[in-house]
Amino acid sequence: MEQKWWKESVIYQIYPRSFKDSNGDGIGDIKGIIEKLDYLNMLGINVIWLSPVYKSPNDDNGYDISDYQDIMDEFGTMEDFDILLQEAHQRGIKIIMDLVVNHTSDEHKWFTQSKSSVDNEYRDYYIWKKGIDGQPPNNWGSCFGGSAWEYDSTTDMYYLHLFSKKQPDLNWENKVLRNKVYDMMKWWLDKGIDGFRMDVINMISKDQRYPDGYVNEKAVYGDITPFVFNGPKVHEFLKEMNREVLSKYDIMTVGETPAVSPSDAVNYVGNDRNELNMVFQFEHVDIGNGLEGKWSNLGYKVSELKDILSKWQLGLQDDGWNSLFLDNHDQPRAVSRYGNDKEYWCESAKMLATMLHMMRGTPYIYQGEELGMTNVAFDHIEDYKDIETLNAYKELVGIRGKDPEEMMKAIHDRSRDNARTPVQWDDSEYAGFTTGTPWIKVNPNYASINAKVQIHDKDSIFNYYRKLIKLRKEHKVIVYGDYQLLYEDHESLFAYTRTLDNETLLVICSFDTNQITFELPENILYNTNSLLISNYPVEDMNIVKVELRPYEARVYLLQ
Ligand code: GLC
Ligand code: CA
Repeated sequence: MEQKWWKESVIYQIYPRSFKDSNGDGIGDIKGIIEKLDYLNMLGINVIWLSPVYKSPNDDNGYDISDYQDIMDEFGTMEDFDILLQEAHQRGIKIIMDLVVNHTSDEHKWFTQSKSSVDNEYRDYYIWKKGIDGQPPNNWGSCFGGSAWEYDSTTDMYYLHLFSKKQPDLNWENKVLRNKVYDMMKWWLDKGIDGFRMDVINMISKDQRYPDGYVNEKAVYGDITPFVFNGPKVHEFLKEMNREVLSKYDIMTVGETPAVSPSDAVNYVGNDRNELNMVFQFEHVDIGNGLEGKWSNLGYKVSELKDILSKWQLGLQDDGWNSLFLDNHDQPRAVSRYGNDKEYWCESAKMLATMLHMMRGTPYIYQGEELGMTNVAFDHIEDYKDIETLNAYKELVGIRGKDPEEMMKAIHDRSRDNARTPVQWDDSEYAGFTTGTPWIKVNPNYASINAKVQIHDKDSIFNYYRKLIKLRKEHKVIVYGDYQLLYEDHESLFAYTRTLDNETLLVICSFDTNQITFELPENILYNTNSLLISNYPVEDMNIVKVELRPYEARVYLLQ
């Protein structure tokens, strides 16, 4: 197994709008990030993944970019960005940027040109089709609700938008466009950034036949999955990008790739593929999705979670490399979803962190996860800001007649805004995030859950994350060891080993609110055992039979 800096790193994702506001306008910004670099350094992370800071009209909070080489006014200036990069580098922290090139904003110059006439030189940068009998070219539904096609009267044609209608999809079939994208990437890399997280990068190649998709009984529009994910030319495009851009720099890349299996993933990240370093897969966070996707929640079993994560551990064991995450800006908070954010908030947050950080792959921490930040439950739909949530409410409640209370429950469980409430820095008004009025409400639990109390508490979730990160730097077995699941059918015990040369890591995690027993399988042999980390005090060092308290987690090094 080849050793690489990005395999040995821990990455911290910043969603700038909600991270730290420096000037009292209620919106997080780049200067706010600079203020908190020492905090991140104390945590011990190596790399920041910065969600988009580019110029944007903010239809989807910066994932709709109107100028790739400029900074959003609300976030600051290019000078601020340059200082951030320099200050981060001085502390040994790298920065990777979000690369959103499946689509732009409809306010991007390329699009305003493109829509102006059929023979404009930018026309073919986007995907334009004629309607059929006054209807869109096919039945595809957008990921944010409604049709994926928007009619434009200027030229009497429709353009494709797999996300909001203010996010028109770029036409990757066009080589001139691709070269423009590569030039833009080089411009950022030449500035000194350390890589990219690539937004929905496995959606850039569409099935050129544009066939109708299957419509399930709860849906109005056709399913786009078979026609836009892992499309016919996606590997050709990524190999070209790698050849022309990525291979020329010592950087890391991680592609956001919904709807991939481990064998699909190997095609993106395999050692000889010359495409990407890692991908984000979503099987473990899509558990329990029903006919209305995330809005019909069927719940999940611990055995399913184990099954999925283990399949990925093994699927990329010989070739490729995993990314490890539970939280990001699109997901509910892990402690609320897979843990218990009431009686066992602290224990379960630490247990989940242990379960994830002891796996093989590169761990990602989403802002506030290191504090055990939880989901929020706003009473009124008006308090939500996320376009996906608002559109889904309109479509499901307004058009499909879903019970509003049931929808609010689904929103409390799964809305992306769970991740987007301001980071809770202290117990002052608005959690120390801003001196003004925050753009989205603060989670009311900030008085007890915040960075200020946790930094000084040696038993805090924050200090537990610090320790996990430190352990990864000290023990190669945590980075490179082989994974093996134990007791695969157990419904509340998640235990596994990691093995490298003569060392074995034994990871024992309970998802139970009751006491359960772990028994060491007889084939695990060792001379000495030492406890590396645990979320309860442990006195008895016997590991042959361990009584686990609610959400207990322990990691032993066996030699
Ligand atoms: C990705 C981003 C998400 C965004 C979407 C469209 O899934 O993570 O936040 O809304 O792409 O850019
Ligand atoms: Ca601000």
